[in-house]
Amino acid sequence: FRIVLLGPPGVGKGTQAELLCKSLGTCHLSTGDVFRAAQCQNEHSPALRSALDAMKRGELVSDGLVVSMVSERSSCLSCFGGFLLDGFPRTAAQAEALDELLDQNGVQLDAVLSYELPLAEIVDRLSGRRTCSKCKAVFHATARPPHKEGTCDLCGGGLVQRDDDRPEAIRVRMQAYEESTRPLADYYQQTGRLLSVSAGGSPEEILERTLEALQSKA
Ligand code: AP5
Ligand code: ZN
Repeated sequence: FRIVLLGPPGVGKGTQAELLCKSLGTCHLSTGDVFRAAQCQNEHSPALRSALDAMKRGELVSDGLVVSMVSERSSCLSCFGGFLLDGFPRTAAQAEALDELLDQNGVQLDAVLSYELPLAEIVDRLSGRRTCSKCKAVFHATARPPHKEGTCDLCGGGLVQRDDDRPEAIRVRMQAYEESTRPLADYYQQTGRLLSVSAGGSPEEILERTLEALQSKA
């Protein structure tokens, strides 16, 4: 399958991406993960520096930088097992750039999964998220708590809150989503590729719902 994951911040895209990749054997590309990994580099170009600052505030990174970053990784698009794009595209310009990259690679999208969840639950998922500072595993204070508070189950690293999961940045991210990303649902709806999936319930329940939706499409 060649899939785009669409949906508001904190709806659970990263969690589903992990489960879907295991289940479908696809390649996974998360633009947010790539930018967060770049935070650990010693030196940042001025463009990357301003992207990381924007990200901290909850704003979108510029289309130019995002598209060039995805283009550099476009081998993912011709991955034999298919791919999952998580957090890209997020603007109309990015969606157009993706169409071009898909054309260049001679492939087409099978589905755009649009996850939906009431705002109160989204805010709860975001504010409770804790990420391992070492291996980047994702936990949740109540829904997926670590066995030992503040410590990663997998590697023993310390758990931290993402800078952009603070209330001011959450507000900015939700606004950016409503303004720039939600309209993409109409774009993909028009070409019959949109599949809406409820993101309520446990991660396993959502996975099952997602696989059913993909089957209906296949
Ligand atoms: P990005 O990393 O893409 O963040 P996001 O879209 O805001 O999504 P999140 O990672 O916050 O949430 P998620 O939906 O993956 O949820 P998760 O599974 O972690 O982008 C970050 C920033 O990078 C952007 O703001 C922007 O600055 C920049 N950026 C990235 N891509 C860009 C682009 N294309 N253009 C421009 N800028 C870009 O789950 C959240 C929490 O809920 C976790 O704690 C999890 O354990 C828990 N949880 C998950 N599922 C469930 C469940 N079913 N029940 C209970 N809890 C659950
Ligand atoms: Zn860890």
